[in-house]
Amino acid sequence: MRLFDGPMTVLACTDSTNTRLKELARKGAPHGTVLLALRQTQGRGRMGRSFISPEKGLYMSVLLRPECSPEKLPTLTPCAALAVCRALERTCGVKAEIKWPNDLLIGGKKLCGILTEGVADTDGSLAAVIGIGINLNTTAENFPEDLRSSVCSVLEVTGRETDVQSLAEAVTDALEDIYERWCAGDCTVRDEYRKLCVTLGKDVLVLRDGGAKYAGALDIGEDFSLLVEYPGGSRENISFGEVSIR
Ligand code: BTN
Repeated sequence: MRLFDGPMTVLACTDSTNTRLKELARKGAPHGTVLLALRQTQGRGRMGRSFISPEKGLYMSVLLRPECSPEKLPTLTPCAALAVCRALERTCGVKAEIKWPNDLLIGGKKLCGILTEGVADTDGSLAAVIGIGINLNTTAENFPEDLRSSVCSVLEVTGRETDVQSLAEAVTDALEDIYERWCAGDCTVRDEYRKLCVTLGKDVLVLRDGGAKYAGALDIGEDFSLLVEYPGGSRENISFGEVSIR
């Protein structure tokens, strides 16, 4: 049986699909549960930021209960980024790039953000809620003025509207394939991610521990960390913190 065979719950509006799915997960919702919303009033992004979620976007969360060590869970985020790229290409003919670790861009503008959160069950096991927000049929006017020049949408790129549910199903199909390979430890997932990662070969600003350092982005590690080289030649694998492309 396929992982995402169950019905997809579609909500006209919710506060945050991640918040709702985490609640369901704590009540025992099964592996593969998917929540899709057409609008969010309190969409959440990485680093405690909010994620503006106007009407006509795609906001979905997927519950996974992998049998792996908790340290491996964050690597599901790049898997989801890859799955969204595949789904966008198949469904809309859109070729997005990945800004490490998990933003999808077109022409340097943000098209999709991903937030993975862990949920501890009463028995101590960990589940992952992967939240995906895609600017689908939105236009710049749907966003606050200060964000308009840094975001884009599938509608703006293709000139036509895409059915939200069809794209959500394409994302779950692609995620299913990638998730199976991830569970098997198949390194083709990282290879495919690396090809789409626009951060590689660029100079980046590594923001961490309240400071900022310039470095060159060299490669993606087996654990999807970013290998960078600082002026002077020292290298480091970055797993956390933010990187901005210069
Ligand atoms: C980011 O770019 O910082 C991550 C954004 C993640 C947004 C998605 S939309 C669906 C899910 N529900 C949320 O509240 N957040 C995620």
